[in-house]
Amino acid sequence: MVPSSSCIHDLTNQPIWLLLLSSLGFFIFLKQATSLANWVFIILLRPPKNLKKYGSWAMVTGATDGIGKAFAYQLAQKGLNLILVSRNSTRLKSVSKEIQANYPTTQIKTIAFDFSVGSLGGMSELLEEEIRGLDVGVLINNVGVTYPSARFLHEVDEQVWTNVVKVNVEGTTRVTMAILRGMVERKRGAVVNIGSGAGIVVPSHPLFTVYAATKAYVDQLSRSLHVEYKRYGIDVQSQVPLYVATKLVSKVASIERSSLFIPTPHAYAKAAIRRIGYEARCTPFWAHSLQWCLGSLVPESLLDAWRLSIGLKRRAKLHHA
Ligand SMILES: NC(=O)c1ccc[n+]([C@@H]2O[C@H](COP(=O)([O-])OP(=O)(O)OC[C@H]3O[C@@H](n4cnc5c(N)ncnc54)[C@H](OP(=O)(O)O)[C@@H]3O)[C@@H](O)[C@H]2O)c1
Ligand SMILES: *[C@@H]1O[C@H](CO)[C@@H](O)[C@H](O)[C@H]1NC(C)=O
Repeated sequence: MVPSSSCIHDLTNQPIWLLLLSSLGFFIFLKQATSLANWVFIILLRPPKNLKKYGSWAMVTGATDGIGKAFAYQLAQKGLNLILVSRNSTRLKSVSKEIQANYPTTQIKTIAFDFSVGSLGGMSELLEEEIRGLDVGVLINNVGVTYPSARFLHEVDEQVWTNVVKVNVEGTTRVTMAILRGMVERKRGAVVNIGSGAGIVVPSHPLFTVYAATKAYVDQLSRSLHVEYKRYGIDVQSQVPLYVATKLVSKVASIERSSLFIPTPHAYAKAAIRRIGYEARCTPFWAHSLQWCLGSLVPESLLDAWRLSIGLKRRAKLHHA
């Protein structure tokens, strides 16, 4: 005798549509519950990778301010030596002094390079020359620029939009290429490319269109490279921050202070460093991923209208200033 036969009998007595519906509901619930549990695990419990295993040096671009500078501090704390790249040599010197004072054993090399001046044609060779002989295991491709203010495309200065493309698209690609060669030889490395919610999380980013488009490029570049370079032991990742309280954000969005959804660069980098070497794409700061999740429940047309009104307001402010 089968003990549960009456139970099975009850179940099979139900109309088929009810059975299908309830199993669908159950699977949807299971999927949501699993991804919630996974999210909590990743944010709180998953051990970060030992970054020194990728190599003893880390390169950070745009390292003298904001997110890049915060990454440099985190990497020094993890015991990596630093190669800091930015355009202003005075600021590079003062930032490396600052880091050195906190982490005396860290070796720091600086490269003054302006991504927006002249041709980037020789950049990969130049960088390769600078890092010759160094075991560069981690690259934080962070440098990125946007418009000085909200604009319709036909209003954007030639110089402004071509610079955004040059720094964000060409610069990011060339730095990656320069670093990859050594990583391929050593068969290890981690590359983190800093994208933006502007290019991925919201369906559109009107009046900052070229910026958003370059960040969508960075995302796809990273996700394809993630698959391409797995076999060489290189972990490529697209990181998608939403607002972080930096100089860039205070300029374009008039956000001056950090808050729950707008972390300090330090808080962002602390969360971000824990994610290196795992997902192809991630939004490391917990409140950002919550925002993304809530945003995905809102119809796209509403998000579009909201972003447009924000863009128009920012543009008007500048016209009246
Ligand atoms: N802040 C946010 O809310 C936010 C949100 C999403 C994505 N992001 C992305 O995060 C990255 C960092 O942003 P952030 O807010 O930290 O910016 P930030 O505070 O403006 O810092 C930018 C850094 O890049 C350097 N830099 C700027 N132009 C350069 C150039 N032409 N050549 C070389 N270095 C240059 C700056 O140094 P010098 O001036 O000393 O050269 C500075 O160290 C960017 O890719 C940005 O798109 C930021
Ligand atoms: C470099 O940064 C210093 C300190 O912030 C500043 O005084 C100087 O004008 C900057 N130089 C250039 C070329 O932007």
